[in-house]
Amino acid sequence: MSSSWISMNHFLAEPKALRFAMRKAAARVIDSCRYVLDRECEKFEQRWCQTCGSRFGIGTGNGLDALEIALRALRIGPGDEVITTSMTAFATVLAILRAGAIPVLADIEPGTAVLAPESVQRCLTSRTRAVLLVHLYGRLARMDFWRDWCSSHNIALIEDCAQAHLACWQGSRAGSFGVISAFSFYPTKNLGALGDAGMIVTSDPELARRAAMLRNYGSEQRGQHPEAGVNSRLDEIQAAILLERLPWLEDFTRRRRAVASAYGQGIRNPQVQLPPQPEEESAHVHHLYVICCDSRLALAEHLRRHGIESAMHYPLPIHFQRPCADLPRDPQGLVYAEQHASSCLSLPCHPQMNQMEIARVIDTVNDFAR
Ligand SMILES: Cc1ncc(COP(=O)(O)O)c(C=O)c1O
Repeated sequence: MSSSWISMNHFLAEPKALRFAMRKAAARVIDSCRYVLDRECEKFEQRWCQTCGSRFGIGTGNGLDALEIALRALRIGPGDEVITTSMTAFATVLAILRAGAIPVLADIEPGTAVLAPESVQRCLTSRTRAVLLVHLYGRLARMDFWRDWCSSHNIALIEDCAQAHLACWQGSRAGSFGVISAFSFYPTKNLGALGDAGMIVTSDPELARRAAMLRNYGSEQRGQHPEAGVNSRLDEIQAAILLERLPWLEDFTRRRRAVASAYGQGIRNPQVQLPPQPEEESAHVHHLYVICCDSRLALAEHLRRHGIESAMHYPLPIHFQRPCADLPRDPQGLVYAEQHASSCLSLPCHPQMNQMEIARVIDTVNDFAR
């Protein structure tokens, strides 16, 4: 990799103080000789749920498990339907399948690519138990609507916050709107560990109790297993790393916003559609900066030739994935999800980007001609 290569993430460029603190944290855990579900995990669970404005945090092995356990904590399973978007990471839908429930795929809004209310309305049946709302790319939208709509239909609102750490809607943070919510701390997420990690947050004590039981083989008391749970515990070493990274998150989020704002102002190419501005700045944490372009493969190649990485989130909507081909969906189809999947392209947008790199991305996108 040449030094001028601009990648989607650049961990080595993170502040030296942070990298030093992570090494010390790892040493602290090694010397403690306590490696699973202990003090670091408890401390991080407490810090993170407080940060989100929720009462309880339950650390898990990853974000997929956090979603599955959240569904199972709500006793959502065989015969139950969960409405979600077809434009998301496969894990969102896999979690519903693993809980034994039926994912029902709704379409997205054309600009923001988040779940479209009219489409969700068309997916509603007497078997609907929940809406699994994905804050795609880090954007919170219409949270007051979703809360009201779910409660008026007596169904649970579950948030998939894997991409939305610290995103805020009218003063409340992602994770605090749903009855139960799931986070991923996969390394590339806005708050990332050095391996897999996740967390469930909720303010409901019974859901918290069930989630803590389900992540630990369905056990609350040693040797007693009232339910068949899973093994999905948050390692002490990952919790310790996350505790060190947490104080940096606000500043890193500001830097992501600065990159997105520069792109929004600087990218001017009639072949490229930019993501719409959020209603309030705090509602978007820009986990990903995703543009749309009909000739996105040519644009990706143009960027690569100029030393800039890009990616696709996601090249196929969920209903084009083989295990999901027969899933129930909006009877009017999933046209916007299909359009978005065929034209989306993610540009580098991470906290370690400098002004020259940002300017290079802007100029290179602007220079692109079909
Ligand atoms: C929207 C969304 N949901 C769920 C997940 C699953 O998280 P994990 O990779 O930690 O299992 C991810 C991560 O890729 C994601 O982006």
